[in-house]
Amino acid sequence: MLILGFESSCDETGVALVETSAAATPRLLSHALHSQVAMHAAFGGVVPELASRDHIRRALPLTRQVLTEAGRDLADIDVVAYTRGPGLAGALLVGSAVACALAAALGKPVLGVHHLEGHLLSPFLSADPPVFPFVALLVSGGHTQLMRVGGVGEYCLLGETIDDAAGEAFDKSAKLLGLGYPGGPALARLAEFGDAGAHALPRPLLHSGNLDFSFAGLKTAVRTRALKLADSPCDQWKADLAAATQAAIVEVLVKKSLAALKATGLERLVVAGGVGANALLREQLDAACAGRGLRVHYPELALCTDNGAMIALAAAMRLDAGIEAARCDYVFDVQPRWPLATVGTVVA
Ligand code: KG4
Ligand code: ZN
Repeated sequence: MLILGFESSCDETGVALVETSAAATPRLLSHALHSQVAMHAAFGGVVPELASRDHIRRALPLTRQVLTEAGRDLADIDVVAYTRGPGLAGALLVGSAVACALAAALGKPVLGVHHLEGHLLSPFLSADPPVFPFVALLVSGGHTQLMRVGGVGEYCLLGETIDDAAGEAFDKSAKLLGLGYPGGPALARLAEFGDAGAHALPRPLLHSGNLDFSFAGLKTAVRTRALKLADSPCDQWKADLAAATQAAIVEVLVKKSLAALKATGLERLVVAGGVGANALLREQLDAACAGRGLRVHYPELALCTDNGAMIALAAAMRLDAGIEAARCDYVFDVQPRWPLATVGTVVA
């Protein structure tokens, strides 16, 4: 079965082709991505209307590109998958409209996919795929969640952020340090030149006894220090504060992930979402898990942030598991707000 996947929930247009067969795990044939970062950078963040318009421009050229790279034709596609939510309503509507129109023209069914399910299943396309069950740490620009994943569609929320997401903490702190958008990678780069010990920043909810997170207080602490140091004669404080911020976020993510593994008795952790690309997070999780006989799985770096491959893959795995059927009603059913824990439910 050949699945074409569209991702358009925020500021990247992603298109990919994934092939499934009864005998093997799903295989990524090709994927293409257009990042809107340069377009939004001038505004310091994503402008939803511009994002939607750009998805319209990119969707079909990227579709042609993945078909050419895989040596396939439109007629070979069996199912068209798209991100149904969560995300920006207008941006989601573009992806669902393109997917539904293309599928209707081809006489093929469509399947709307949960963006976070795409992220958490994305390590199945890596060279070191996980096996169920596992704990998933989902760390993106809008979400920070720990889930118990029993199988495809079996998602139980263990804890989540009560305010800002980890990616948001990176992005907002980066802005306070005068770094560009998106802030996470920029802050991580600057942190390499800083001393994390130079600032004692809070580790919110670290000892809360549950698996919830909070990052809003950290951002406030960064703002207070940034204002105090703004007139310093040299800029080293920025690198130090970047390093301290990254260390605080990473320590909380690592400790809560270990606590989730302990609470569930599971030995595998899957890290997914844009913040999963962070090198310090990977280094510290690897070190903490190796010492305890635990395994950590990541998506390939190129598939950590938003992409079409994870959407085609999630569709493939849901169809293979028989928990959902693709549809031919071609309804634009986007869900800008959509809790992941509900996607196990079979939608007729
Ligand atoms: O999953 P993603 O691409 O989009 C959402 O679904 O939100 O995640 C984007 C988030 C942004 O907040 C970005 O700053 C962060 O992931 N991010 C990083 C790194 N790369 C991306 N944060 C820290 N270190 C990185 N290397
Ligand atoms: Zn994402």
